[in-house]
Amino acid sequence: MARINDAFLKLKAGYLFPEIARRVAAFAAAEPSAQIIRLGIGDVTEPLPPVIVSAMHRALDEMASRQTFRGYGPEQGYDWLRQTIVAHDYCDCRIEPDEIFVSDGSKCDSANILDIFASGQNRIAVVDPVYPVYVDTNVMAGNTSEAQDGYFGGLTYMPATEANGFVPDLPDGPVDLIYLCYPNNPTGAVASQQTLSTWVRYAQDHEAVILFDAAYEAYISDPAIPHSIYEVPGAREVAVEFRSFSKSAGFTGTRCAYTVVPKSVQGLAADGGRVSLHQLWQRRQATKFNGVAYIVQRGAEAAYSQEGRQEIRSLVDHYLGNAQIIRRTLEATGFEVYGGTSAPYVWIKTPPGTSSWAFFDTLLRKTHVVCTPGSGFGAAGEGYARISAFNSRAAVEQAMQRIRDRLDV
Ligand code: MLT
Repeated sequence: MARINDAFLKLKAGYLFPEIARRVAAFAAAEPSAQIIRLGIGDVTEPLPPVIVSAMHRALDEMASRQTFRGYGPEQGYDWLRQTIVAHDYCDCRIEPDEIFVSDGSKCDSANILDIFASGQNRIAVVDPVYPVYVDTNVMAGNTSEAQDGYFGGLTYMPATEANGFVPDLPDGPVDLIYLCYPNNPTGAVASQQTLSTWVRYAQDHEAVILFDAAYEAYISDPAIPHSIYEVPGAREVAVEFRSFSKSAGFTGTRCAYTVVPKSVQGLAADGGRVSLHQLWQRRQATKFNGVAYIVQRGAEAAYSQEGRQEIRSLVDHYLGNAQIIRRTLEATGFEVYGGTSAPYVWIKTPPGTSSWAFFDTLLRKTHVVCTPGSGFGAAGEGYARISAFNSRAAVEQAMQRIRDRLDV
């Protein structure tokens, strides 16, 4: 009989967002008249920017004609898109177009990157609370032992708390792989240049690799906050960066992202040799991935045109405006509120004595508003909830009105 990957059995609960969807569906079945407002999963609601839609229409027309039809594209992404990305996103950062790997999502890339690291042989650090993909994929890859009290053995958890502004201290001992996500999902915290410099120095000193998830960089509103880890000198030697069009250009359903793997980042082979991660990731992608659809890459390219940048700005401003409304209302209602100024997520403390899931249930039952329980992001998220700003203005205003009217804090 085929042997399974037993590591999957260590994952006790289902993946967070399907679990929430399951509970919401059960509630909707029990209360069919409830007008549910979803501020749970960070999924965009507004249509694609018009300039992107036009570019994709044109690309589809090209696919309809023998002369301009395209089959397989380059696994790493079309050169014109990689050139455009570098010109706009990395003009000051010494990143080369062939260090960009266009993909169908940062979630997949941040999971798949484990293919190029030795299973069970790296000390891995994650922030707590954390985007659950980083933890679950390490469990699947056999990098952990069983979970106890919500913590998987073999991972170094770095608590992000009110006390440290949700930006964790450096790990006590040496680690080899460090996952960082800023602006942060779920807390909405940002990392300053100084914080990132400290991490880069740590990685240099310990020959560690930083996996930097910058999926929410478009939401940074403070000009002093770096958008890329490569704005920090030395990061080119120690960091891989994940970027996405999902939350900026509204591509959660369209799927386009990219990962930056500088040729100068190295890992250690069993024979003691040093190997460029770029070479391994290129080999991995060429074998396991056939690239993003031509039509979608043309859409992503249009995101960088002058109109595209303006349209994306107003899309992001729309969600940031929602976040401000959420912040203001919840503060006025008596909640302790964090994040939401440079991120589409507002992180709130649940009322005293109310667990994250109890708050999720109460909010759903009393107001028909869906949030994400903080404990779903890890043990340190217990006692918190995340409210997403991804929705229409009318839905957010209505959700806040219901919270004002129906919730006692
Ligand atoms: C979230 O709600 O945390 C995001 O939707 C997760 C994701 O982008 O995969």
